[in-house]
Order: sequence, then structure tokens, then C-alpha cells
Amino acid sequence: MVQNREVWSTRLGLILAVAGNAIGLGNFLRFPVQAADNGGGAFMIPYMISLILLGIPLVWVEWTLGRYGGERGHGTAVAVFDYIWKKPYAKYIGILGVMIPLVVVVYYVYIESWTLAFSIFSLIGAVPHEHMNGSAAEYLKPFKDFLLSFIGANSESPIFLNPPLSAYLFFVITMFLNAYILYRGVSAGIEKVARFAMPTIFILAIILLIRVFTMTSPEGRNFLDGLGFLWNPDFSALTDPKVWLAAAGQIFFTLSIGFGAILTYASYLKPKSDVALNGLAGASVNEFAEVILGGSIAITASVIFFGVMSTQEIAHQGAFNLGFIAMPAIFANTPLGELFGFIWFLLLFFAGITSSIALSQPAVAFLEDEFGLERKKAVLYLSIFVFVSAHLVIFFKGVLDELDFWVGTVGLALFAFLEAVLFMWIFDSKKAWEELNKYADIKIPHIFYYIMKYVSPLFILIILTTWVINDLPGKLEQSSLNVWIARGFLIFTIILGIILVKKAWEKREQRKVKNG
Ligand code: ALA
Repeated sequence: MVQNREVWSTRLGLILAVAGNAIGLGNFLRFPVQAADNGGGAFMIPYMISLILLGIPLVWVEWTLGRYGGERGHGTAVAVFDYIWKKPYAKYIGILGVMIPLVVVVYYVYIESWTLAFSIFSLIGAVPHEHMNGSAAEYLKPFKDFLLSFIGANSESPIFLNPPLSAYLFFVITMFLNAYILYRGVSAGIEKVARFAMPTIFILAIILLIRVFTMTSPEGRNFLDGLGFLWNPDFSALTDPKVWLAAAGQIFFTLSIGFGAILTYASYLKPKSDVALNGLAGASVNEFAEVILGGSIAITASVIFFGVMSTQEIAHQGAFNLGFIAMPAIFANTPLGELFGFIWFLLLFFAGITSSIALSQPAVAFLEDEFGLERKKAVLYLSIFVFVSAHLVIFFKGVLDELDFWVGTVGLALFAFLEAVLFMWIFDSKKAWEELNKYADIKIPHIFYYIMKYVSPLFILIILTTWVINDLPGKLEQSSLNVWIARGFLIFTIILGIILVKKAWEKREQRKVKNG
């Protein structure tokens, strides 16, 4: 198909868009929880090692595959797997790079809508504002009840959630904003939003950082206690597989690798663009936002207010407890707390929306590139799918967690593994290395050739195997109705993906015949 594909308009815009893709709820919500729940300093060593052995190499793999596809007029893993692997089944494996981010979007957009809601609630003083007394658990209770009633999780029913109308309305608004940005397109929508949102995120984060770093508790704790928790290395945890799994999983999620979304963004590069430096720059900005900003706001504030033990407990109780329960509770005891609460949730919202549009774009690109649909139509179909599917997450208990386990955790590692093998083994490692270094603005140390070829795939394989042994049996034992609703939805999505690929390739054949 002759393509007139869009391109990023400037290099700065591209870096900001890619940083927007990576910097998301993962940086400011997921990272602090993972770090706190896995021992703070104990988590950081496996995290840094995973960044170097998995994160950076996989970023380069996705960027290079994306540019390779873009040069041939295709922006998703479907066509890239087909070109490189040259086997009839390859394209069906490639569809994972469209369906994985799509399923993540289904729950990600809903969480994003909570951040929008909570930013408004903070500003108008609608979140609880109790003053600190009693134990951390007692004090946090009204804040916890507030979150649970907003998402409707305090209902008696074992099956249904019962959110108020306001939660639904915020979701509709968030959906609409996502669809509108995507509808505007790559440079006029995604890039433009990133140009505004990325600097805003940094400014908001720095305001919060200054606020947190000037807090003290009546017991005399200050920011140094928080930083100490995260940065005092604990080598004993290096032998704990759970910490390694959490660290590697966080690297995939935060850098947006194993989704196929970086691949799609890289497909919109101008001809003869570098991927080595661009990839590294995007990853570096993300890591700064995660480790320096994301790591210093919620954890530090919580350690100052509640101490290390309680912070670990808060993180252990649930993925949202630190961001949606502890943080509002802390701001309730801070002068101008409404304003800081607003800033915190607005920061999350901007971080979230620049990622959710990125995770939606592979599906849009797939419909445009492989079916020749206009962007308007592609965005409409995508939005209908996400909107309808999100009802499972909004109204059924446990669906969000189940989807996040299969797709946001196992799925990412699996697809990252397939991409690494495709690139360094099926494509041929010498060709792959040349492709990565083509038009490069930096010289990548040659050691990364070996890391990408041997270490990264092996590392992911070990992670996947450990998951299968440690977590899978327990996971499969769960068989409530809601768990099966989530699994049924996943099976449906995979079948839908396969049918779409089949149809797209039939169309392609017909076109070939027609054009002689
Ligand atoms: N990388 C995105 C995040 O961190 C998905 O939220």
C-alpha cells in the first residue's frame, strides 16, 4: 500500500512525545508502591540492573523495529513481525503489540479519570480533611472510605462495583479527551499535547518536591528519612526472586516496553532519523521522572508522616493506597493542602493522558496502515472498543487486577521477549546491530551487542519461568465469576485480533492481484 504516513514535526517534539509515552501513572503511582513494598533500598539495585540489562536494550529494539516498519509504511508489530520473520504465523504474534496496549488502555483510562476527579475534588475541598490523630490506620480510614466509595468498591455485592454517577462522568470526559487528541493526529494532537504536558508535569513535580522536602513530622522526621529508605542499599534482597520480578516488571511498565507502543511512535520518524540517541534520551527523561521525582514525592511524604513501617504497610495493602489515600491524608495536614492535592492529581492526570494516547496509537495505526482507514474512523472504532470494554472494569470487582496481571505484567515480559528474539535472532544479530546503528548520533558501546543478543532474552526467560512456577498455580486456582469475566474478555480480544489480521492480509492479497 502506498502510504502517506504522518511524521513528528521536530526532534524536541518527538522526544517529548516519547517521554510522554513512557512517563505515566507508572512513574508516580506504581513505582513508589513497588519500591516501598519491596523494601526501598532493597528494590533499587535490581531495578538499576534491570534498567541496564533489559530496559535500555529493549528500548533500542523497539525503536529500531519501529523505524524499520515506518520506512516500509507500517506502524505496528503486526507488519514488522511479518516482514522480518517471513512465516505465515508471525503477523498473528505481532498483533500482541496492538492488543496488549489496547487492553491496558481499557483500565488505564479509568484510573486516569480518577486522577482528574480527585484533582477537582481536592481543589473544591471535597476530599476528607481530618486532622492527624491516632494510628496511621485509624487516621487513614476516612480517606480510604472516600476512595472506596468513589470507585464503588464498598458495595456488599461480591460481583458488582457500585460507583456514583460522578465517577462515570469523569470517565466519559477522560475518554473524550483521549479520543480528541488521537483524532487530531500524530503531530497536531499527540506532539502538541506533549509539548505542553511534559514541561507542566516537571513544574508540578518540582513544586511538590519542594513542598515535601520542607515537611517535618512532630516526631522530627524529615525528607532525609524518606530518601534514606529508598537509597540505603540492602544487598540481602538480591537473592529474593520476588524483588527481581517486581523490579523487572516495573522497568517494562515504566519505559513502555513490551507494549508495542514505542515501536509505533518510532514508526513516525522522519527518514534517516537516529534511534540510538533518541531512544536513550527518551529513556533517560523517563528515569529522571521516575527515580528522582516519582521516587521522592509520595514515598518521602509518607515516610515523614507515617514512618517507614507504616509506609510499607500502606504500599502493601494496594496499588492505589499511597497515591489516592495516603497523599490526600498528608495534604489534609498541610497548609494550602487543597492546592497541593490539586497539583498532585493534576500531575497524575497529565502523566496518565500522555501515556494512554500512546498506548491507544498502535490500534489506530493498525487500522490506518493495514485497512487503509482514515484516522477519524480508526479513532472512532478504537474509542468505541475502549469505552464499551471499560464497563467491565468500572462495574465488576477484580477485573482491573486480573487484566493488569495478565497483560500489564506477564504480557509485557512475554512480548518483550518475542521482540528481542525477533530482532537479535530471527532478523540476525549482525543485521540488527547495523540497523540500530544506522544514522546513529551516538556510538553505542559494543558490549550492548552481547547484552541484547544473550543477556536480555535470557533474563526475560528466567523472569517468565519464575512467574510460571511461583505465581501461575495460585493465579489459576482463582476461578470466581469475575476472574472469568476478565479472562473471557482477554480471550475475546485475542480472537478479535487474529480475525482482524486475517482480514487485513486477505485485503492485501486482493489488492496485489488487482494491481497485477
Ligand atoms: N509507561 C507508562 C506508565 O508508566 C505506561 O504509566
